[in-house]
Amino acid sequence: MDKLLIRGGCPLHGEIRISGSKNSALPILAASLLSAEPIQLNNLPHLHDITTMLDLLGCLGAELTVGEKLTTQIDAANVNSFTAPYDLVKTMRASILVMGPLLSRFGEAQVAFPGGCAIGSRPVDIHLRGFEAMGADIVIEDGYINARAPVGGLRGATIFMETVTVGGTENLLMAAVLAKGETVLENAAREPEIVDLANCLVAMGARIEGIGSDTLRISGVDALHACDYTVMPDRIETGTYLAAAAATGGAIKLKQTDPRTLDAVLVKLEECGSDITTGDDWIELDSKGRRQRAVSVRTAPYPGFPTDMQAQFMALNTTAIGTAQVIETIFENRLIQTHEMNRMGAQISIEGNTALVNGVERLTGAPVMASDLRASASLVIAGLMAEGETVVDRIYHIDRGYECIEEKLQCLGANIRRISD
Ligand code: UD1
Repeated sequence: MDKLLIRGGCPLHGEIRISGSKNSALPILAASLLSAEPIQLNNLPHLHDITTMLDLLGCLGAELTVGEKLTTQIDAANVNSFTAPYDLVKTMRASILVMGPLLSRFGEAQVAFPGGCAIGSRPVDIHLRGFEAMGADIVIEDGYINARAPVGGLRGATIFMETVTVGGTENLLMAAVLAKGETVLENAAREPEIVDLANCLVAMGARIEGIGSDTLRISGVDALHACDYTVMPDRIETGTYLAAAAATGGAIKLKQTDPRTLDAVLVKLEECGSDITTGDDWIELDSKGRRQRAVSVRTAPYPGFPTDMQAQFMALNTTAIGTAQVIETIFENRLIQTHEMNRMGAQISIEGNTALVNGVERLTGAPVMASDLRASASLVIAGLMAEGETVVDRIYHIDRGYECIEEKLQCLGANIRRISD
């Protein structure tokens, strides 16, 4: 199992390019199942989760052509299986996103029931209730969700989602584009990745109103066509490097990103004491080499502060001046990085869903264990700040979501390398 060896204490300086968004690419890849014509996708990130989704599409019978410069063509004309097997679903929960497209275009889908994961129980009840509202029959048997559309296909429906769910909104949106009649999705998630998916569906011929709002109105069409689409930049990768630069007292420029998707994060970084300058597709952060001020965050659905940035801000707060509250409202067990950070000298106490982070002068390097994707990134940030050597174990979590993380950090002057067993 690979590990990352970090010698901390170097402020990050320099420029890097941000990769395509993982959380946007995954539903967009699933959406390629909706068309019998080829979908060309650009700016896909090179990540394990993307490879898993491509494997899943291949296993359903889609033909994949991987071109140069992160371009991939998916031809789902000859899809001949409607089953997402347990082996793939267990490595990536987002496999559930093939359910909406399969059910909508082919009238049936069998997807292994995704289990819980390190950050919480993560049910899919809202996805399933939505499909049922559109006329699907859902049976759970032998660890699989078996879904079947009524004769004539899914029917449009008005669906109120009682919790704001990103995956639920995406799955039901994809199901609705080929359903008969109109679907209204109420209390829909508004994350930029949903806007990206909706824009791609529109490029394929879908009819969707209210994109970017919490009410999506979809008029079903008979078929979707070919398209060429470029996936948006990864806002969480962007935020992670910005937090790392602020935490190490550095100054960096991130290119090929989109500052408009990061308002809540940029405001907090300024509150910490960093200067932020943005252009159309770049962001510069200058911490002025200063120790940052503690900044409290409370996670919330977009446009609130993203849960996927919570752990990185906890890391930033460990050495900030003052005390910060980090409140996690989306997932029940997402403060898991706390214990590893305390082993590095941080002073963090937890009560319920709130972490109280008391800033200390410095962290000290230690062997630590990654437990999920964003928690791993926060341990890398802690390692970059710490005095001495930190070894982050189980970094397969990081490889699921950060393209070339050690190369990019080396480019920014970090002393980091991968050790393979
Ligand atoms: C997506 C992101 C993940 C991010 C999360 C919240 C991808 C691949 N993953 O995950 O990085 O942290 O959004 O921004 O895009 N819930 C239910 N019932 C459901 C569905 C969800 O109760 O049927 C609950 C979840 O347990 C959680 C909350 O709703 O407490 C939000 O989850 P959701 O937005 O669905 O997260 P994902 O789509 O799984």
